[in-house]
Formats: sequence, structure tokens, C-alpha cells
Amino acid sequence: MAKFTKDLAQPDALNVASIAAANDLFQDGRLFRYGEVGKGIPQAGLFEEEFAQITGRPYALGVNSGGCSLFLALKACGVGPGEKVLVNGFTLAPVPGAIEHAGGEAVLVEINDDLTIDVADLEAKAASSGAKFLLLSYMRGHLADMDGVMAMVEKHGLTLIEDCAHATKAFWGDKMIGTFGAVGCFSMQTFKHLNSGEGGVLVFEDEDIAAKATLMSGTYMLYEQHKARPSMEVFERHKYDMPNCSMRMSNLVAAILRPQLLELDARIEHWDKIYDWIGAGIEATINLRLPKRLDKAKPTPTSIQFVVDNLPYTKIEEFLSHCADQGLHIKWFGAEEPVGFTSRPSHWHYVEGGKEMQATDAILRRVCDIRTPPSLQKEDCDLIGVILGEAMERALSGS
Ligand SMILES: Cc1ncc(COP(=O)(O)O)c(C=O)c1O
Repeated sequence: MAKFTKDLAQPDALNVASIAAANDLFQDGRLFRYGEVGKGIPQAGLFEEEFAQITGRPYALGVNSGGCSLFLALKACGVGPGEKVLVNGFTLAPVPGAIEHAGGEAVLVEINDDLTIDVADLEAKAASSGAKFLLLSYMRGHLADMDGVMAMVEKHGLTLIEDCAHATKAFWGDKMIGTFGAVGCFSMQTFKHLNSGEGGVLVFEDEDIAAKATLMSGTYMLYEQHKARPSMEVFERHKYDMPNCSMRMSNLVAAILRPQLLELDARIEHWDKIYDWIGAGIEATINLRLPKRLDKAKPTPTSIQFVVDNLPYTKIEEFLSHCADQGLHIKWFGAEEPVGFTSRPSHWHYVEGGKEMQATDAILRRVCDIRTPPSLQKEDCDLIGVILGEAMERALSGS
């Protein structure tokens, strides 16, 4: 039997330029992004400027995590106590967590067999709940039918906030994901396209939303030092009304991120190959299928998911345990208990209606998830395919 020996949870080492930039900053000592006097090295402001340029948005704000970027986006767009926020049921726990943190009330929307938001259910829930906000999560990089989503946004007058934690530089047609809504939110936690351990960034079109989020991130009134910011007059309008929530990006995080921006395209290109290589092994294995991509979708996956059809849950568990015996550790959204990064709406007891998400629950109980660190090469991916086949055979034969 084939055996996999690589650790899929091992990220790449940081590049030489990131390490050098961090070292320069250690010599300087100004790890905090703001200087009251003197110049320092304004890494956070420069990162924001560069990230804004990548997305084509005029304003960007670096913060301490992806979850906080969602919280600030919701607050800056006007979510307050009891405000209903539509959100798709396939997402990670920090997403409903951000809604709760902002004082809002999540209204869960079902997903389809391809793991993206069910546009018909979005329409039904928007109408029945009267919600005015949609937090759309491109969980694991899967891109929804954005034409359908945007039609609902328009029809129901929704403010759209995009959770792009897994969708950096992804496109729908020729429009970049993260630029469809009022705010695009990204995460730089280790298992994302950019790795600073912790980190988040928001991009905006609207100057008032940008200024409000920036003030709430905790500027100590030193917002002039931001580079991709609205004009100072915009801050004047809001500076007495916004609480300081202290969710800033540190200069150290920005310093190690900036050189990674230069490598981003090459990394995405390699990740696409990894997806295709492992995807071929998945498609060659009986009972396993990849979620379908719509024609206009150009996702940038950093992991791969597959659905196990036709087998009872106990057999899925058996199949996964054979994979693990062979050194291939696969995460499963179907487990009774939330484990690691996997959970379903029924696990979020603080969200009303989590247990009634029958369509989402049924599909997620069949969804498996493989981390794909960028160090994987073709032979590693082929081996994963071989193991999937062998483990499935063992599960079917009961050996
Ligand atoms: C889909 C999704 N959204 C948001 C987040 C939040 O990011 P962070 O861990 O940086 O708070 C994550 C984190 O993994 C995520 O997977």
C-alpha cells in the first residue's frame, strides 16, 4: 500500500526578503504602525497601498485578523444590535462569529451541491427576513453564481460584504472577487495565499465606510499616516463617533507580507496546478467528485475539497481512516463534533436556525477537505490520488 509522508499542515518557510524586512524592523524597534514623532518605517501603510493597487480599490486597511476585518466591515457598513445579516451556511466559524461580535443576527442561507450559496434560498431568505446585509463567504475559494447573487443584491437592496479569506486574486469573468460589494475582506492567517501568521485587510470603494473602519481599527487619531485612505475631511466627519476597537495591523506583519505580494501570482499558478493534479486523482476514484465550477469562475484555491457520494457516513469514516493509515490526513465536515477547522451550522448553537439547515447539512456531511501546501509537487499529488483509490477499495471491500 502506498504511504504519504509529507506533513500537509507544514507551510513554506518565509522568503529571504520577508526575513530581511523583519530584521530591519527589529533593528528599528518601531513595530507599532504609528509614530507620534519621527518617521520610522511605515510598513503597514505601504502594504495597504500595495494591496489596494492589486485590487484596483482606492482604499485599504490592514488589521490584525480576517475575522476582525469582517467585524469592522459589518460595523462600518452599519450593522448594529439585532441587525439581520444573510450568510451562506458553508463557511468557517469566524464568519458567523463576526456577525455575533458586531451585534447582528445571522440569517443562514442554504448551499447547493457545488458548495456555493443557493441563489433561490438567498432570494427566499432575503424576502422573509427583511435583511439588508449579505456577508458572502467564498469558503475554500468556491465562487458562487455572482450574476445571480448580484441580481438579488440589487433586487433586495442588500449591502454586500465579501469574505475573500480563500479568494485572493480570484475572478468572476473579468471582475476581481472582493470588488463586487461595499467591502472585500481578506485573511493572511498562515494557511492563506499570504502568510503573516495573523492578519487581515479590507478594501473599499466608499470613502465614509473606509474612514469609519479605519477609525474603529484604532488609529489614536494618527490616521493621516495611512496611505490608501480617504481625504482628511472624511475623517473629520466621523472621528468623534467611532469607537477605538484596537484591531490594528502591526508593522512587523506588514513587513513580512509586502515581499510576498511580489510572489503571489507565481504561487497562485502553482496552486492551480496542485488543484488539477490532485483533482485528477479525485475524479478517477469511484464515489468521489469535485464540486463543479461555473464558466465565469476563476478561483484561486489553496486547498481542495471533494464530495463522497453513494456511501453511508460510516463508510466515509472508514475510507478516511484508511487514508489516515496511509499517511494522508483528510479533514471531514461530516463529523459529529467540529474538529480543527471544520464545522457545520448545526454546531453554531448561538445562531438561530443552525439546526434547520437541512440541505447544507446533508451536503457538508459528505464534504472532505485536503490542505495543499504550495511545496507539493506533481509526484506528491499523484501519490495522493493513488492513496484515495486504495483507501476507497479497502472501504468498499471491508478489508
Ligand atoms: C472562510 C473564512 N473566513 C474568514 C476567516 C477568518 O480569518 P482569520 O483566521 O484570519 O480570522 C477564515 C479563517 O480561516 C476563513 O476560513
